[in-house]
Amino acid sequence: MNVLGIESSCDETAAAVYAGSAGLLGHAVHSQVADHAAYGGVVPELASRDHVRKLPGLVAGVLGDAGLGPADLDGVAWTRGPGLPGALMVGAGFARSLAWARGLPAVGVHHMEGHLLAPLLEPDPPAMPLVALLVSGGHTMLVQVADFGRYRVLGESVDDAAGEAFDKTARLLDLPYPGGPAVARLAAEGTPGAVRLPRPMTDRPGLDFSFSGLKTAVLHAVQEAGGDRQGRADIAHGFQEAIVETLAIKCRRAVRQTGSARLVVAGGVGANARLHERLSTEAEAGGFTVHYPSLELCTDNAAMIAYTGYRRLQAGYRDGLDFTVRPRWPLAGL
Ligand code: KG4
Ligand code: ZN
Repeated sequence: MNVLGIESSCDETAAAVYAGSAGLLGHAVHSQVADHAAYGGVVPELASRDHVRKLPGLVAGVLGDAGLGPADLDGVAWTRGPGLPGALMVGAGFARSLAWARGLPAVGVHHMEGHLLAPLLEPDPPAMPLVALLVSGGHTMLVQVADFGRYRVLGESVDDAAGEAFDKTARLLDLPYPGGPAVARLAAEGTPGAVRLPRPMTDRPGLDFSFSGLKTAVLHAVQEAGGDRQGRADIAHGFQEAIVETLAIKCRRAVRQTGSARLVVAGGVGANARLHERLSTEAEAGGFTVHYPSLELCTDNAAMIAYTGYRRLQAGYRDGLDFTVRPRWPLAGL
């Protein structure tokens, strides 16, 4: 069963084909980062327009690379939400129309379920049940995964997402968008321990997160450091440590609380090298294993959408012609 997946929820246009036992036949991502960089963040209207421009070529390219034509497809999946409404509409309209024209079953997919299942695309995937840490630009959550489609949100951010905190900190440090990789690079030049920032909500029980206070702490530190480059590197280091330590503490708690033997980490912040390092230590001490998607499947991509769509189509899910997008869509509602 060859399933075409389409992703257009934010500033990446992506297409992929997943083929069941034959695995991922191809995937391609076009990043709009350069289009939005001058604005310091994603401009929704520019994102929608660029999806319109890039999507047909990406789909044709991926099918070509996989040696397939449209007639070889058996299903179509797209990101229904959460995301930017206009951007979602482009992918949904394209995917639903293609499915209709070819008489194929079609299914809209939850973007975060895509991230959550991305580690299962790797060779030697983790078995379920497991605990998932989802850390992207829009979400930070810990999810108990009993089985495919059976998710319980254990905790989530009450304000900023972890990726958002990286992006806002980058702006305060005069670093380019997207902030995560830029902050991580500058942090590597920082002196450990020079700047210590709070680990929000770790001193009380529970699995929720809050990162907006950290941003204020960064602002004050930046005002103190002035324009000094080493001072800014020390802040980046202190900030990354605070986020990573906070995430690690909550992961340890979630694993203990659920008695789980496996943790998967997915979403853009899951690409952070220091987070990997810290969670390895945690896993060794706590007797659990940690699983990540490959780096290219940590950030937004369509492979995870094609795979999730494949699983959903196999399980009998179908969308009719009256499809909708869901810019806000709680994972708990799946
Ligand atoms: O999952 P993703 O590609 O898009 C969303 O669905 O949001 O995540 C993007 C987020 C951005 O906030 C970006 O700054 C962050 O992931 N990110 C990182 C790293 N790479 C991307 N954060 C920390 N360290 C990184 N290496
Ligand atoms: Zn994402």
